[in-house]
Amino acid sequence: MTIRTAVLPVAGLGTRFLPITKSLPKEMLPVVDAPLIQYVVEEAWSAGMEQVVLVSSRGKAILEDHFDTSPELESALEAKGAEALLATLRELTPAGVGRIASVRQSAPLGLGHAVLCARAVVGNEPFAVLLPDDLIWTEESTPTVLRQMVDAFQHKGSSLVAVMEVDPSQTDKYGVIDPVDREIKPGERLIQTQGLVEKPEPAQAPSNLAVIGRYILTPDVFDLLENGKRGAGGEIQLTDAICALLPSQSVYGYRFEGTRFDCGDKVGYQMANLALSLHRPEMRERLLPFLQEQLAHWGGVGGG
Ligand code: G1P
Repeated sequence: MTIRTAVLPVAGLGTRFLPITKSLPKEMLPVVDAPLIQYVVEEAWSAGMEQVVLVSSRGKAILEDHFDTSPELESALEAKGAEALLATLRELTPAGVGRIASVRQSAPLGLGHAVLCARAVVGNEPFAVLLPDDLIWTEESTPTVLRQMVDAFQHKGSSLVAVMEVDPSQTDKYGVIDPVDREIKPGERLIQTQGLVEKPEPAQAPSNLAVIGRYILTPDVFDLLENGKRGAGGEIQLTDAICALLPSQSVYGYRFEGTRFDCGDKVGYQMANLALSLHRPEMRERLLPFLQEQLAHWGGVGGG
């Protein structure tokens, strides 16, 4: 079954990045030279999505503007003969690839509630969810994570959540899956799940397989979200609704290939900027000597 719609929750206040997020949505923070939102929208197109639904809130119109045409800017670049920049801009609104729709989440009731707000646009078919905070870098020769998951969904036909192993002390930052088989074999991608818990304390965590912000869900999750109780943090949690799918379908954790950066965290965000800059030869040439100087100054890793 084809998956045509990707839901992108973008209504959050971004308090961890104040003061910049007072006037700029967190999703517009740049990683190198593109805003975070652009990485996930491009990932959605790469996985064959026909429409992206932004679940947004007041003050976020700039996100839609970013993917709209910009006639003044384009004529100025045309007049200057700046062909490469012009092409980059035009790729943001690729004709015939897909469309961007937006719905509002008028109260901050949690990630599950944000996904529920997209119900009418998604309709009664499987869909993807991407969280822009999680930037996942893949080599050019490797399919993007959503592409990998769409392919796995074609094979299994059940809901999938991206997972990765995290340090066991960190489970209270994530949704965590309870794998049917505790022994995870190296290279095993699909992990059958018998439960999911939102942000468990390390002592209560069923595993160290943390949910990362990519999901493929069947539409029955909407009824469960609609009728679900508030969970961790008093919010309507997507993790709880996915767990509630379990009596009626299999749910798999998908161990993806790629490097994940937590751009909802200041350090993770800087790491993403650094790593993606170092992948550009023209930037690497100047950044590496600078990093060596910094390392010498700070006394190497752990110094200071
Ligand atoms: C959300 C989800 C959580 C998931 C995480 C991944 O949490 O609720 O299950 O592990 O994203 O980034 P948040 O980071 O919004 O608190």
